Amino acid sequence: RRKIIFDCDPGHDDIFAILFALAHPEEFEILGFATVAGNQTLDKVSNNLANVLDFLHLDLPIYKGYDKPIAKPLEVQPLAHGESGLDGPVFPKKEHQFQTKHAIEFYKEMLETHDQISIIAIGPLTNVALMLKTYPHLIHKIECISCMGGGIHEGNIQKRSEFNIYHDPEAAKIVFESGVPVILNPLEVCVAGGITFAEMDLFNTKAPVSKLVYELFEFYSRYSKEHNMSSSPIFDVCPLFYLYKPEFFKGFKANVFIELNGNYTRGMTVVEESEQGNTLVLFDVDRDGFIQSFIESIFTLDRN
Ligand code: BDR
Ligand code: CA
Repeated sequence: RRKIIFDCDPGHDDIFAILFALAHPEEFEILGFATVAGNQTLDKVSNNLANVLDFLHLDLPIYKGYDKPIAKPLEVQPLAHGESGLDGPVFPKKEHQFQTKHAIEFYKEMLETHDQISIIAIGPLTNVALMLKTYPHLIHKIECISCMGGGIHEGNIQKRSEFNIYHDPEAAKIVFESGVPVILNPLEVCVAGGITFAEMDLFNTKAPVSKLVYELFEFYSRYSKEHNMSSSPIFDVCPLFYLYKPEFFKGFKANVFIELNGNYTRGMTVVEESEQGNTLVLFDVDRDGFIQSFIESIFTLDRN
């Protein structure tokens, strides 16, 4: 069983990824969650995750991390994820209790006590970068960082920059230069693996988890519908799904450089194909197999 830590900013697609992992306990042991400011403020994204875990009656630890990027002010994403960061479903109002340790102290403890840990990084890379900088002697315990971010040729927040990388490029640079094996799931692979609106409708049932997913999609798909897209990428599910079924993906080894300057290109991932590179850049996925597995996995959660 692979031991994983989610570093996340939930976020609709962050929740889809977490649900997918929960549906596969034979494959993934979730050690806990580190939250980071991104789609919304640190408090909002942490609350969103706590609401979902409560809804599922799960008691998994949530450690709050950094509340802003390393070198720029926080810019949240209300258009994509709403004012709450997880608009759509309504959860009971509740004051959640979070772990008192900082997320990077949680990483330290886990890396000290386990042999190998995989990090699923699906928000800005602030926590991961500052953890690598603070505890370099533990880096060898990280099996890989599978992250959603960047684009080979595309951007979504700027012409050539994707949100997670653009949001904290200084952090991304630290991660890509760290020497840790990175699996990069850029926009291209996420777009190739999009879910159609008809497939989203399959979740319109009375079963609680499917209904939650349906309500999340109702809000989340607005962006794709307004932009006349035929499907919606479920970005953050890709890095988790790669660890589950790597054979469904196509990719190449590369060095990835992060643009920190540039009037038009700050936060761009500059990808240079190289057999010696420490990053596996994915560019395509078997869409039908991926989405079918995603749908079945969510349904499994309602059967258990
Ligand atoms: C990424 O940005 C966030 O809005 C999503 O959760 C995903 O991690 C996509 O660019
Ligand atoms: Ca995310």
